[in-house]
Amino acid sequence: MSKSNKNILLIMTGSIACYKACGVVSALHQKGYAVKVVLSPSSLQFIGAATIEGLTGETPITDMYAAGSVMDHIHLARWADLILVAPATANYINKIANGLGDDLLTTLFLAHDFKKPFLVAPAMNTMMYLHPTTQDSIGKLKKFGVGILETASGVLACGEVGYGRLLDPVLIVQEVESHLQKSGAVIESAPLKNEIKNIKVLVTSGGTTEPIDDVRVITNTSTGKTAAYIAEQLAEAGLEVDYLHAINAALPKADVQKYEFLTFKDLQNQFENLLTANNYDWVIHTAAVSDYSVDKTSGKISNDADQIHLVLKRNPKLLNQIKELSPSTKLVGFKLTSSANGETILEKVSQQFKNASCELVVHNDLSEISKTAHPFHVYSSSMKEETAKNTQELSLTLLKKIIEARSL
Ligand SMILES: Cc1cc2nc3c(=O)[nH]c(=O)nc-3n(C[C@H](O)[C@H](O)[C@H](O)COP(=O)(O)O)c2cc1C
Repeated sequence: MSKSNKNILLIMTGSIACYKACGVVSALHQKGYAVKVVLSPSSLQFIGAATIEGLTGETPITDMYAAGSVMDHIHLARWADLILVAPATANYINKIANGLGDDLLTTLFLAHDFKKPFLVAPAMNTMMYLHPTTQDSIGKLKKFGVGILETASGVLACGEVGYGRLLDPVLIVQEVESHLQKSGAVIESAPLKNEIKNIKVLVTSGGTTEPIDDVRVITNTSTGKTAAYIAEQLAEAGLEVDYLHAINAALPKADVQKYEFLTFKDLQNQFENLLTANNYDWVIHTAAVSDYSVDKTSGKISNDADQIHLVLKRNPKLLNQIKELSPSTKLVGFKLTSSANGETILEKVSQQFKNASCELVVHNDLSEISKTAHPFHVYSSSMKEETAKNTQELSLTLLKKIIEARSL
């Protein structure tokens, strides 16, 4: 992706954080993107038009009715590959969520084509941010497909400590690049669609649930969000995707064929049926499968005893059976570790290559995962490692590997 081919429209609204957003303008310009800036009249109280002109070499756009630019609200919306609002005031967020279009900035949102990313980086006082109107608007915009960036916490310009600070400019730039990469991948893959539409993938998702008695269960904390996202991205890129998911797992917002499981046994049966009935090119096995099943007690175990003993029986490794059931299918295994050292990680990853003959193993460690970070390490059988910063990048990496394998 050539950066100079990518056009970014940055909208600034009236917040003290305008000076910080100048850092975003500067970084994107220096990285080689074409950047145009639209300033609200209020934002001009915080920074000058000359600041933007100095940073980008282009005069910012400030007036909807300036002679010669009256169609800017349409032209700019078409020109942009991505629109970023940073900082986004409560006023702007609430206006666009309610469809107002009384100036250039709000009309740009009404003219937006949702095939392209529209990102909003809020910046405001905590009470304004948490105000039900603002939260309602943020919820509405998310439903429309707008990317609402996190806010940072800390000391605000008003002297309060709380949420609502503009996200760090470095992180904003990262978000912009990752959204561009993602939308670019989908668009750029369009000519490949004929070639790749026959690729069939099975994605497994969520955690198994093992009954202890008629009402109690043992399960794990897998949500299926990563799998849902991967399935969604692959389906949107044109692949045929089957999604075998735990009953309570996240679901992809895309056209995929869904199959459900609850227990280990269900998953095993579904796997056997699907793998024998279909000729999958790839299986992406993200499901968190219980290593043990419980010797189930029928009825309800009485709660009189001080201690009860459960008998857990080892389950076979489903990952290791996939190639036996479908030898030509390529396989992506997932390995989650908890605060493991480098040596242990490599050993666990190598074991998956050895025992399951995976083509790729995706590793992540719980210690690296937080509210704002979810990196993955993608290993090939030669133990070459690529890092994906987040689920988006992981999906893209897997999509690229699948396409590359097709053209070999
Ligand atoms: C010093 C100062 C700082 C302000 N900072 C913010 C802010 O960070 N976030 C916000 O939502 N509004 C802030 N405001 C209020 C907005 O500037 C005001 O709502 C304005 O109408 C926004 O217009 P715009 O959204 O068209 O740019 C601030 C106002 C002043 C005077």
